[in-house]
Amino acid sequence: MAGGALPAVGAVGEDFGGKLTFSVYITCIVAASCGLIFGYDIGISGGVTTMESFLRRFFPSVLRKMSQSKQNEYCMYDSQLLTSFTSSLYIAGLIGSLGASRVTRALGRRVSMLLGGATFLVGATINGAAVNVAMLIVGRILLGIGVGFTNQATPLYLAEMAPPKWRGAFISGFQFFLSVGVAAANLINYGTAKIHGWGWRLSLGLAAVPALIMTTGTLLVPDTASSLIQRGKIDEARRALQRVRGSGADVEAELQCLTEETMRSEAVEKPFRDIFKRRYRPQLVMSIAIPLLQQLTGINVVAFYAPVLFRSVGFGSDSSLMAAVVLCLVNLGSVLVSTYFVDRYGRKVLFMEGGVQMILFLTAVACVLGVKIGSSGTSPLSKGDGVLVLVLMCAYAAGFGWSWGPLCWLIPSEIFPLEIRPAGQSISVAANFAVTFVLAQVFLSMLCHFKYGIFLFYAGFIAISTVFVAIFLPETKGVPLEAMDRVWEKHWYWRRFVV
Ligand code: BGC
Repeated sequence: MAGGALPAVGAVGEDFGGKLTFSVYITCIVAASCGLIFGYDIGISGGVTTMESFLRRFFPSVLRKMSQSKQNEYCMYDSQLLTSFTSSLYIAGLIGSLGASRVTRALGRRVSMLLGGATFLVGATINGAAVNVAMLIVGRILLGIGVGFTNQATPLYLAEMAPPKWRGAFISGFQFFLSVGVAAANLINYGTAKIHGWGWRLSLGLAAVPALIMTTGTLLVPDTASSLIQRGKIDEARRALQRVRGSGADVEAELQCLTEETMRSEAVEKPFRDIFKRRYRPQLVMSIAIPLLQQLTGINVVAFYAPVLFRSVGFGSDSSLMAAVVLCLVNLGSVLVSTYFVDRYGRKVLFMEGGVQMILFLTAVACVLGVKIGSSGTSPLSKGDGVLVLVLMCAYAAGFGWSWGPLCWLIPSEIFPLEIRPAGQSISVAANFAVTFVLAQVFLSMLCHFKYGIFLFYAGFIAISTVFVAIFLPETKGVPLEAMDRVWEKHWYWRRFVV
């Protein structure tokens, strides 16, 4: 489509006065709440895997290793089995997100979100009731398939539903809810860690609550107009548009434009094959590079393993979880900052500022750990130094929260033309899960071998990513989805592929 004939700018470039109606807000808030389940999941596993009763029941070898005296602080949690519990979700999520593309295209964005929520609900129930490792893993696989579906469909839903002028803020809503989920999970872990014997059960089972909230909410919202038109439901699309644009709004011009876009998109029958065509190269590269580079910011070192990490560097189990909670709250606040800036000043400014901030503070963390506990890792941090590490990590997490956090969901959801949008988003989510899996799988060993140098490793990658974005990512602020091709046509490097 990139080179194809577009209707006059008046139609394609217009935002049709997409106002911020009450209905747009509610619809998008409900959709963004899909981020809750993913966030809850990210937040819960790190804490649960430090609970003694959980380890005794499912991973006794890790517990034995921890109790060996003089165990290196960096290595005490280095267990492949424990890591596979955490990361099995990501493999399932990867498969789920690829499968979700078909469902999202054929049955709509909303059906994918519903299916995702329901599958997650079953997974949460099995996990809460687990009596052996097999149940734990099966539960996590279902959770993974669930988030595979919701992570694939929700950003697309939000991108298509939001007025172009505020699209950035609405999609940041997904990361906001994700961060609420992470924070809630950490707070819950803080409480349940005190319940002897079965606290972990509560932590895992309570994942059903965000799943219920989002599934019920999704039942109440309409699908996006683009998706309805694509499935031939023009009247429903008109009603959906009317509902979100406000009762007095004239939606015919927008409907017409979306219908034309849909007709052009019908030429693509096999999106997973066509997406590899030369003209989609810029979008394809971004859809893989952005999640890949997001994971290489090292955020999940913090998100999954914050409690493990703080305990490893000398905090007690209780204060480790509390430290993780503080970190999450900072992250949450910073996503709100991004919501304010992203549509006013653009995506790239946030990428640049956030990148530099993360590089500086990760380097500082590495220096403090290097100087204070060195590479032997046998002398625990003092309380004061522990707090310093926490403060530095908070500054790093804030940088992530207003840049790579929300932008990783925003950019892929807005750059693809309709015909390959679900496939593109699937590839992006799958890439995110694949890299998260690999990094989760190797992180504890890396921590054990690289020691504090692991933070320098990630700081180096953030530097590369920041340069990459500066050079190759065009600004997409305020550009209507139907006119997005033009940003590539104008870009000094990508124009050779699309013009
Ligand atoms: C990332 C996750 C990460 C989370 C942390 C998301 O945008 O994709 O991998 O755990 O942010 O808040």
